[in-house]
Amino acid sequence: MLAKNVDVNAHGHLTFGGMDTVELAKEYGTPLYLIDGNGIEARAKEYMTAVEEYLGKGSHPCFAGKALCYTDLYRTLEKMGMWIDVVSPGEFYTAKNAGFDLSRAMFHGNNKTDEDIKMALELGVGRFVCDSDDEIEALHTIACEMGKKPKVLLRLTPGIDPHTHKAINTGTIDSKFGVPIETGDAERLVKKVLEKESIVLMGFHCHVGSQIFECEPFFEAAEKMLTFMADMKAKFGYEAPEINLGGGMAVPYLESDEKISYTENIKAIGERIDALLEKLSLSRPVFYLEPGRSMVADNGMTLYSVGTVKCIEGYKNYVSVDGGMADNPRYALYEAPYTLINASHADKDADFVATVGGRCCESGDLIQENVRLFRPVRNDIIAVLTTGAYNFSMSSHYNRLPRPALVTLYNGESRISVKRETLEDLIKSDL
Ligand code: LLP
Repeated sequence: MLAKNVDVNAHGHLTFGGMDTVELAKEYGTPLYLIDGNGIEARAKEYMTAVEEYLGKGSHPCFAGKALCYTDLYRTLEKMGMWIDVVSPGEFYTAKNAGFDLSRAMFHGNNKTDEDIKMALELGVGRFVCDSDDEIEALHTIACEMGKKPKVLLRLTPGIDPHTHKAINTGTIDSKFGVPIETGDAERLVKKVLEKESIVLMGFHCHVGSQIFECEPFFEAAEKMLTFMADMKAKFGYEAPEINLGGGMAVPYLESDEKISYTENIKAIGERIDALLEKLSLSRPVFYLEPGRSMVADNGMTLYSVGTVKCIEGYKNYVSVDGGMADNPRYALYEAPYTLINASHADKDADFVATVGGRCCESGDLIQENVRLFRPVRNDIIAVLTTGAYNFSMSSHYNRLPRPALVTLYNGESRISVKRETLEDLIKSDL
């Protein structure tokens, strides 16, 4: 099976986190997001251990909540002492609601409003990852008014192309994010920030992209960032205490995808960093990584019920399910690959080629095209694997569909972490 939390039981049903998915669909209804709570804890521990061991004491992974964000998850992460990356008041409000200590939060975004900045300062968000001159000026003004001294990392664009999908490629010079090193803008902004007494410059951040299988782009990012750090030390006598290398490690979505060891990758990045620190005669800064997808994707699964099976002789077989682009827009947006299984007959051969579509009034509302699965009939349960990242967090109400429930599986038990929305929920803000 694609992941070690997926299996088949004696009834021929697919299991996830040791639990029968067909039974879970019966109990909670479909569409349904499932999250393997034990799996997330184990991955968080793996990241925390490897980052501290290979990137240095005091270094931390910061979970990127844009991949998955709800109160129950943040309660778990708080208990573990994890750091988080937040990008909106909605995300840090959710963390606060979970009792999360926001001094362990990095506040990102290329366009923070004055209200966002005020709220983050009031709540004591630990780091502002600043993206532009305008943001620095706004932060300076608001911090002075409020008598605060925010800690800041400057987001830099290192000019690296990790060759991932263009919508999730963020490290190139023409990116909407960050300040380019190559044009001299980064150096100019460092000088400006160092002159502002209201702001404590903690160091530099970069994020090169997402779904990256190789280590090379991370090596390049470390080299660009540490070289810049050495440059700033030489020019301004400023030696950055912190470097954040962002997120981006890949997740296998298909059996044919390469397997990936996050510990091994972090170890390899750590070895490069050790060599660079020595070569550039730098003191070791604290390092941060910001894994999103690789913390949660394979710890999630979505269950749907089959509605109709339509065979267009000589053309295509359509299987329509009771969800679609409203709960998972990733195929419509990126043609993202997924593994699908007929969970009601997971022990049977995948003998049928189908295009699995959703229920929205739009031809592009597809979960996957031309996948093999055991020929389903109405009310069979279809499982889409590896949906823990960027599914729930990117869901919408398109076609006025209520969002599915999200159920956490933990130690062989299940609990609702996010309730299924009702029709009443859909109209609650309508006047
Ligand atoms: N840090 C920063 C500053 C980021 O912009 C991102 C992702 C991450 C960390 C986490 O990256 P990850 O480890 O998840 O690759 N919606 C797209 C992904 C967009 C990623 C945006 N930034 C998708 O569904 O593939």
